[in-house]
Amino acid sequence: MILKANDPSAIQTACELLRKGEIVAFPTETVYGLGADALNPYAVAKIFEVKKRPRFDPIIVHVSDFFWVENLVKKVPPEVKIITEKLWPGPLTILFEKNEKIPDIVTAGLPTVGIRMPSHHIAKRLIESFGRPVAAPSANPFGYISPTKASHVYRLLGDKIPIILDGGDSVYGIESTVISIDEKKIRIHRFGAVTMEELSQFGEVVVATQEKGVASPGQLPYHYAPNKPLKIVDGPQGIKNPFSSYLAFTNPEIPVNSKYIKVLTKNGDLREAASNFFSYLIELDRDDVEVIYAERIPEVGLGRAMMERLRKAEKKSLYT
Ligand code: TXA
Ligand code: MG
Repeated sequence: MILKANDPSAIQTACELLRKGEIVAFPTETVYGLGADALNPYAVAKIFEVKKRPRFDPIIVHVSDFFWVENLVKKVPPEVKIITEKLWPGPLTILFEKNEKIPDIVTAGLPTVGIRMPSHHIAKRLIESFGRPVAAPSANPFGYISPTKASHVYRLLGDKIPIILDGGDSVYGIESTVISIDEKKIRIHRFGAVTMEELSQFGEVVVATQEKGVASPGQLPYHYAPNKPLKIVDGPQGIKNPFSSYLAFTNPEIPVNSKYIKVLTKNGDLREAASNFFSYLIELDRDDVEVIYAERIPEVGLGRAMMERLRKAEKKSLYT
């Protein structure tokens, strides 16, 4: 059932369900999340069931107050304070060494927990009213594209979850950036809505997956994929199959030989492109096409996060 989130009784209903160990879908500024009481392992187990998510993939814990970070982790490095003062609440997840309060199922047995303080007013109100941290992955079946609209959550998981709080479209449209921080470096574990360029004002930034000897658990080679195979092309000239969808980065300059076309941004604005990215991919993932072609996106700023997801989707097409 979809409930309009600005109706105060909707947040109440959601909190009651969370207290009973149920799961609820709610909006965040990045994508919609599927939330459960982070301190209740049975509730968190339901998230894994509903998403058909493998138990080795850790879940992000959402908080509304820094108090909870101090309460749930072994230590808060001083560098973290500097970064969170600027970027929290917002689309940034930080990995910490967890303490025993976080159930192992949340972190898939890892010693670290990813914590984020979302900025979406409904997410904030929900977590505040609930009064405890909320574990939440994106509200999609495992491996599929993340939803940025309540109607997409309904289409993907509507029959498996009691309520979906509708707070409108997610403004960023792409997931949070996942980082870890030590006194020397900021490591990016997943590209996302906070760009590498923004992070570099706080120190040296490296990509964890490209570093030797640093494990990036939870980073599977394929993820974020539509059902139909996806191929990255340099433009409409790369379209070989007309029974296809085409995700253009910007207005195509030559005719597009596909059944369905979506243009991420008319004037090359990466922010606008990111906000449309997942919802357009969901709309282009249709039964009556054989392949989705996606135009290459410039790899700067938010473009890196989008290209990372397109590459993973393309890779999955090669496996299946
Ligand atoms: O924007 C977002 O981050 C959204 C909204 C709902 O907050 N959530 C989200 O969660 O994208 P999810 O579960 O779809 O992706 C979280 C990813 C995991 O797959 C994993 O790669 C990484 O974050 N992650 C979480 N905890 C981690 C940990 N302890 N160590 C390493 N990576 C972790
Ligand atoms: Mg996800």
